[in-house]
Amino acid sequence: MSLSIVILAAGKGTRMKSATPKVLHELAGKPLLGHVIDKAESLNPAKICVVYGHEGERLKQAFAGNSRLSWAEQSPQLGTGHAVQMAIDEIDGTDAVLVLYGDVPLTRRSTLERLLRNVSENSIGLLTAFVDDPHGYGRIIRNSSGEVIAIVEEKDTDSRQKAISEINTGIMALPGSRLRDWLSRIENRNSQGEYYLTDIVALAVADGYKVLPMQPDAVEETLGVNSRVQLAELERYLQRETAQRLMDAGVSIRDPQRFDARGDVQIGRDTVIDVDVVLEGNVRIGENVVIEPFCHLRDCEVGDGAHVRSHSVLEQCRVGENCVVGPFARLRPDTVLDSNARVGNFVEVKNAIIGAGSKVNHLSYVGDAEVGKDVNIGAGTITCNYDGANKHKTIIEDGAFIGSDTQLVAPVKVGKNATIGAGSTITKDTGEGGLTLSRVKQVYVENWKRPVKKK
Ligand code: UD1
Ligand code: CA
Repeated sequence: MSLSIVILAAGKGTRMKSATPKVLHELAGKPLLGHVIDKAESLNPAKICVVYGHEGERLKQAFAGNSRLSWAEQSPQLGTGHAVQMAIDEIDGTDAVLVLYGDVPLTRRSTLERLLRNVSENSIGLLTAFVDDPHGYGRIIRNSSGEVIAIVEEKDTDSRQKAISEINTGIMALPGSRLRDWLSRIENRNSQGEYYLTDIVALAVADGYKVLPMQPDAVEETLGVNSRVQLAELERYLQRETAQRLMDAGVSIRDPQRFDARGDVQIGRDTVIDVDVVLEGNVRIGENVVIEPFCHLRDCEVGDGAHVRSHSVLEQCRVGENCVVGPFARLRPDTVLDSNARVGNFVEVKNAIIGAGSKVNHLSYVGDAEVGKDVNIGAGTITCNYDGANKHKTIIEDGAFIGSDTQLVAPVKVGKNATIGAGSTITKDTGEGGLTLSRVKQVYVENWKRPVKKK
């Protein structure tokens, strides 16, 4: 059997109280529906069909890069059974059909693989869970020999059924060969007037099919998001799991409750991540790195042995081995620090290479620049890269020493081993070595009197 996956995402998500469709709300930096689609893709299906109801264009746009998805509109929304029916033309009669929910993001691949082993030409697979509080869920009805024979929705339960603690997670695997027929036989004579997908269970049993239930490893795998509170709870759960995985691999995380990885994060052994660090997008951190508190790193690479001091913000940049960054540094896109470079407090670097061993330690702006090796850039140095219309480049060659409070008006080049006197405005290329100064001569007025206040 090849595999078709139907993702149900047509519900309104009223309780989110949001202008954004529920399944586009983000969990660990990725839309809920993105988590489900990724999980679906990891199973290598022949087809993935998303059933949507509201804001179809926004949903399609959010996943426009994914050509393997097909989309089916459900309008109006007449229930989960009706929703699957909307996708039926996408499904091959020989397929196994896995039904997922767009707002249940954390089901593990291993769980779904186990579930798929239960679907065949004479059986369906059902993911159930035993919970302390089954309120609100469909209950699993078993016969005296323990076989599943039906699912009854909360609103249709009698008091005996209400006490059942085994619930329907909603995730099931069905034989495509019978699906069209079963769906066409579902009725909406129930308390909600909806076509329940769950009614398929009783129909299948009547047709002589076995319903094979199984449970996930962790109950969180089946939790859905209906409100922002639930979204935050799942976020914490997922972050704790990520932190645990990293710690198991040799990373120290000072407080796993205050750690956030939103994206694809790799961290090497013996690296220490202090509290309230947020890692976003594609982040690669080497071994023996220290990231101090309150740092924000997005789409960047940090080499072995580097030290990122507190309150630093790094975006789309590369920090070489043994560099020291911060505290309070800002590395903007296309910054590259070669090994052992230092960028200190209140320094902003953008689209610039800072060569090996070079230092920009205090209160500077280095933008659109190429800085060689072992350069020292003094406090308050500014590369004036923008003339109001265009950006220009500053080149500072190896071994140069830039005195404090210097403006380098680009395009300009400071030669190898050149020294720039403090307080200079450099508008022309300098020679190699030697001293370049542009400073008004200091004068001394001996008999000068301070002004006095008028009476
Ligand atoms: C459903 C199950 C219930 C199960 C619970 C688990 C049915 C009838 N009931 O109930 O047994 O315990 O999930 O969370 O299936 N959706 C559509 N179109 C619709 C209705 C729903 O696409 O017309 C989608 C929703 O967007 C959501 C999913 O289906 O992703 C489940 O819908 P929801 O209304 O939350 O179902 P429940 O009543 O909670
Ligand atoms: Ca629900």
